[in-house]
Amino acid sequence: MTGEELVARAKIAAARAYAPYSSYLVGAAVVARDGRVFEGVNVENAAYPLGICAEKSAIARAVADGCGPGDLEAIGITASPCGGCRQWLAEFGIDRVIYANEGELRTSTPAELLPDTFEL
Ligand code: THU
Repeated sequence: MTGEELVARAKIAAARAYAPYSSYLVGAAVVARDGRVFEGVNVENAAYPLGICAEKSAIARAVADGCGPGDLEAIGITASPCGGCRQWLAEFGIDRVIYANEGELRTSTPAELLPDTFEL
């Protein structure tokens, strides 16, 4: 699946985000090595810090369906991933991260996005 295709899936998913507080809709689509695609959106909460990002909700969906670290090949995101999500991308060893930034698509790796990643 190309980066453009993944971000296109993420854009469609973003319309389903629950973001009544920020009105900032984010979508993510992650493709597993076996070809399955998992979409996620940001889900906000009246207690603001409890909201979750689109990337985390997509990865959580993949995990709920049996994927673990090393099983996810690429992720498309409609925004530049936040610091916490970069740590999640590193944890799951995703090869390619494609995200929309200021109108253009960027392709990167978790290591480039978060050098010296924390590991236990
Ligand atoms: N958000 C994401 O979903 N992913 C990110 O990587 C950056 C931020 C969401 C969180 C919040 O619901 C909204 O964007 C505004 O910060």
